[in-house]
This record gives sequence, C-alpha cells and structure tokens, in this order.
Amino acid sequence: MQRFSNRLALVTGAAAGIGLATARQLANDGARLILADRDESALGNATAELGAAIAGTICGDVGEEALWDEHASQLQGLDIAVINAGIASGGEIVDLAFAEWRRILSVNLDGAFLTWRAAMRAMAGRGGAIVLTASVSALRPQPGTAAYGASKAGLIHLMKVAAKEGSAQGIRVNAIAPGGVETAIWRGIPMFEDMVCETGSEAAAFEALGKLMVRYAKPEEIAAQIAFLLSDEAANIIGAVLTSDGGYSL
Ligand SMILES: NC(=O)c1ccc[n+]([C@@H]2O[C@H](COP(=O)([O-])OP(=O)(O)OC[C@H]3O[C@@H](n4cnc5c(N)ncnc54)[C@H](O)[C@@H]3O)[C@@H](O)[C@H]2O)c1
Repeated sequence: MQRFSNRLALVTGAAAGIGLATARQLANDGARLILADRDESALGNATAELGAAIAGTICGDVGEEALWDEHASQLQGLDIAVINAGIASGGEIVDLAFAEWRRILSVNLDGAFLTWRAAMRAMAGRGGAIVLTASVSALRPQPGTAAYGASKAGLIHLMKVAAKEGSAQGIRVNAIAPGGVETAIWRGIPMFEDMVCETGSEAAAFEALGKLMVRYAKPEEIAAQIAFLLSDEAANIIGAVLTSDGGYSL
C-alpha cells in the first residue's frame, strides 16, 4: 500500500517547478490529484503527463476569490493540500512601486489565504494535512526582498494560526522554507538576470548562485520533504517550519 493511496490532494502552482515535482511525488505515492495553476498550457502538459492520477484541474489565479467559490464542490473529500503557487520580485523599498508590492502580496498572501480557506472548509469534519511553501526570505531579511520576504513572513504566521485552528479538527498544518531552488521563478529577477549576463547562461548563473547561497536544491528534493510533512510519519509535527536551505540562514 502506497503512503497516499486513495487520498485526494490539491497542489497549487502545480504546472512547474516545486509544485510539479510535488505533484509527481504524490502521484508516485498513490494520491489522486487536483492540479491548480494559472498557466493553462503548462497545466495541460502536467495533466497529460500525470494521466491516471488526475482527479481534476483548476485553471486560474489563486488570488481570485471567485475561482475558489466556483471550485468549492470539486474539493469535497480533500485530504491533502500543498499551498505552493507564488511569484517573486526584487527591488529596494525606495524604488518599489506600490502596484508591484500589491501584485506580490495578492498572489503570495491573498492567494494562499483563499486556498487555505477553501482547503480547510473541504477538510472540516474529516481532517487532513496541509503544507505551505514559504521561503528562507521570511527568515533572513535581505535588501531588495521587501515584498517577497514580507509576503512569506506573513504566510508563516498565517500557517501557525491555521495549525492551531486546524488541530481541533484533525487538520495538520506545516510549512517548508526553501532556500534557493532551481526553477523558473528566478527569471526576471534583476539580480539573477545580471548573473545570467555575467556568466553567459542560466545554468551557469544557478551554479554561481549556489556558491553564493551555500547550496542550491533541485525541486525534487523539496517535493520529497513536502511529501514527508504530509505523510503519517510526520503526525507529531504541527505548526512547524522546515527550513531547507543548505545552511544559508545560519
Ligand atoms: N525557486 C526557489 O528558489 C524558491 C525558494 C523558496 C520558495 N519558493 C517558493 O516555492 C513556490 C513555487 O515556486 P517555484 O520556484 O516552483 O516557481 P515556478 O515559477 O517554477 O512555479 C510556480 C508556478 O506557480 C504558478 N502560479 C504563479 N502565480 C499563480 C497564481 N496567481 N495563480 C495560480 N498559479 C500561479 C505558475 O504559473 C507556475 O506554474 C513559490 O511559492 C515560491 O515562492 C521558491
């Protein structure tokens, strides 16, 4: 018997990076999946790849309340949620446009809140397990990460409140805080784009970043750690933040 056999799992941001790696991991472990992402074409590819494990898809912006109202009935019977969709940006506070601040918070914080609420409503009376993808940016402040870092720090607090509220209903809630992970989220971040120019390629830029941040993870490593937090082996872990950053935040 696989560890997530017959369990229904929602993964947001499931069409790429950490979300896609987590969807693959959960499918390998026997879960049935509802994949959510706003990138329709990438979501189609992920759905085609995971074939028999797919129980449904939700295509849209996780920060839109109407999306979750529309799909509430699809989440009935939910056992697992991975609240993972997120975006990044750079820029020091003096240069940060308010619209950019709002854009980051609307996906990373509003989107997570709405996903959480929908998942906890679907799990009410039955129990379940939820993992949130935070970031080491919430734990180690760095110049240029105001919006992203604040959104992730807010999420960690939200996770702890949800863990307390959920424990009475058998809903176990935790977070993972990755350091650097090799995914497309880095594209468009000025510091990373500069490194791509300097080193000549994305792969070389990731290698250079790895040296700067001690170690870089592959999305599959983070996915395996998320799966552990979701599993019954982690039954005693509630409201925790698993820092997975190669020692960067020490
Ligand atoms: N890659 C890293 O170094 C790193 C480090 C720490 C934390 N994280 C966090 O991990 C999570 C996943 O990031 P990733 O690195 O896999 O990025 P990614 O860009 O590879 O994948 C993110 C996915 O989320 C989807 N998405 C983005 N905004 C959305 C929205 N509003 N509604 C629905 N879907 C949306 C994208 O279409 C994409 O498929 C994010 O929350 C990110 O902040 C990433």
